[in-house]
Amino acid sequence: MKTAITELFGIQHPIIQGGMHYVGFAELAAAVSNAGGLGIITGLTQKTPELLAKEIARCREMTDKPFGVNLTFLPSFTAPPYPEYIAAIREGSLKVVETAGRSPEQYMPALKAAGIKVIHKCTSVRHSLKAEKIGCDAVSVDGFECGGHPGEDDIPNMILLPRAADELKVPFVASGGMADARSLVAALAMGAAGMNMGTRFIATKEAPVHPNVKKALIEATELDTRFVMRALRNTERVLKNKGVDELLEIEREKGKALKIEDIHDQVAGVYPRVMVDGEMDAGAWSCGMVVGLINDIPTVKELIDRIMAEAEAIIRQRLTGFLDGAIEKTWARAVA
Ligand SMILES: Cc1cc2nc3c(=O)[nH]c(=O)nc-3n(C[C@H](O)[C@H](O)[C@H](O)COP(=O)(O)O)c2cc1C
Repeated sequence: MKTAITELFGIQHPIIQGGMHYVGFAELAAAVSNAGGLGIITGLTQKTPELLAKEIARCREMTDKPFGVNLTFLPSFTAPPYPEYIAAIREGSLKVVETAGRSPEQYMPALKAAGIKVIHKCTSVRHSLKAEKIGCDAVSVDGFECGGHPGEDDIPNMILLPRAADELKVPFVASGGMADARSLVAALAMGAAGMNMGTRFIATKEAPVHPNVKKALIEATELDTRFVMRALRNTERVLKNKGVDELLEIEREKGKALKIEDIHDQVAGVYPRVMVDGEMDAGAWSCGMVVGLINDIPTVKELIDRIMAEAEAIIRQRLTGFLDGAIEKTWARAVA
C-alpha cells in the first residue's frame, strides 16, 4: 500500500509507532521499522542527550530501515536541553522526528536545517493548521480516544479526522483508538494517509516492558481507562488502578484548587515502576480506550502483517463487494 505517508517517510506500510515513555526503546522501534512501519524512540526517556545518542546507535544496529525520535515538549520546572537532544538526533543521521506537546516552532529551523521531516502530534484542527503553517511535514491527529494526552476539546476521531481532512494540506495519520485493519481502513476512508498506534504496540512480544503490563492490557476492557489532571488542563488518559483511584479521590476533594503537588505520589516516577518493575497499581500511566480491542501478544511483524493482509481483504472483498451488490449476513474477519 502506498500513501502520502509511506512516500514521505520511505516506509513500506502506513503505520507509525508513537513515542511512548519507558516503552519506546530501540527494541520496539527497530521491530516496527523492520516490519515495514516507522518505529520511534522516545527521546526524553533517555535522561541525557548522550544516552539518546547511544540508543539511536543501538537501534541502528538492529535495523537498516528508517526510524525516528519523539521529542515531547511538556510544561516542566526545568526544561530538558532540547537543542542538545536535537543535535544527538542530527548526529545520528535520523531523518524523522515526531514532536508532541507544545508547538515545535522554535526548534523547526534546527530540525529543517538537518533535513529532518517533522510530524507533529495534535489534538485539534487549529493546532494541526498551526503545525502546517510552521512547516511541519505531516501531522498525527490524536483523537479523544487516545492513550496519553488527548487535549481538552474531547473530539473523537470520527469527527476530528474528517475535519482535519477538510482543512489540512499536509498529510496526516490517524492516532488514538487504532488497533487493527478496521482502524486503518476507516482512517484512510476519513482522509488520513495512515495510522499511528501507541497502546496496541505495548502488547507485542518485542515491547521491552514487564510482562505484567502486557497481561493488564489483555485483561482490561474499553471501560477501564480514566482521565486524570483535567483540573490542571493537562488531561491524561490512563489505565485504572489503585494508584489512579487514589489520585481521582484527591482530585474530587480538591476540585478546581488541585495543584500538581497534591498528586505527586500518584504521577511522579510511575513509569519505571510500572514498565520496568511491573507494579501495576503504582499510579497514572497512559493507556488508550483501544485496550478493549487488544486480545493477544503477537510479534510486531505478525501484528503489522495481519493488519495489512486484513486491510487488503476489507478493501478488495468487503467494500467492493458492497458495490457489486453482495449482501453479507455476518462479517467474518478475513484473516484469523
Ligand atoms: C504508555 C504510553 C506512553 C506514552 N508516552 C508518550 C510520550 O512520552 N510522548 C508522546 O508524544 N506521546 C506519548 N504517548 C502517546 C502515543 O504516542 C500515541 O499518541 C497514543 O498512544 C495514541 O493512542 P492509542 O494509545 O489509542 O494508540 C504515550 C502513550 C502510551 C500508551
